Amino acid sequence: MKRVLTYGTYDLLHYGHIRLLQRAKALGDYLIVALSTDEFNEIKGKKAYHNYETRKKMLEAIRYVDLVIPEEKWEQKIADVQKYDVDIVVMGSDWAGSDRFDYLKDYCEVVYLDRTEGISTTKIKRELGLQEPRNGLDQLPTTKQERQNDN
Ligand code: CTP
Repeated sequence: MKRVLTYGTYDLLHYGHIRLLQRAKALGDYLIVALSTDEFNEIKGKKAYHNYETRKKMLEAIRYVDLVIPEEKWEQKIADVQKYDVDIVVMGSDWAGSDRFDYLKDYCEVVYLDRTEGISTTKIKRELGLQEPRNGLDQLPTTKQERQNDN
């Protein structure tokens, strides 16, 4: 049985997540998702809308996911691969070539899958006004009235 492992926060679930999980599962027979805990998200400078337990339940309801385990620190990955007898670690291509995953090639196969274009949790939050704008440019007044108010 081929066992596949992937990492992530999976906060506001979207079709980019589903496509990643579907393709990850298709690489093997058993898919494990190491889900970032709320405390680990804080370390990463990320704030999830849903707490860990809710995100875990949502992932467990997805047919491609067989097991959800906590991701609590950067350094746990080798131990995860060994403990769960993992054959392949899968990540989105945004991580390709980074030291965060490449060193795992000594322990298992590492596969990067293309991200789905045009969607991310950050984008959803930003467009719904739930997240601070990405940079100062977004904060510039956009209407004539706003510009006048600033003067
Ligand atoms: N992912 C993907 N395509 C997207 C968004 C995410 O393939 N459009 C993948 C990521 O590469 C990762 C997994 O889904 O392997 C979980 O990503 P996560 O960071 O939780 O989701 P994002 O939507 O990217 O969240 P954020 O914007 O907060 O980084």
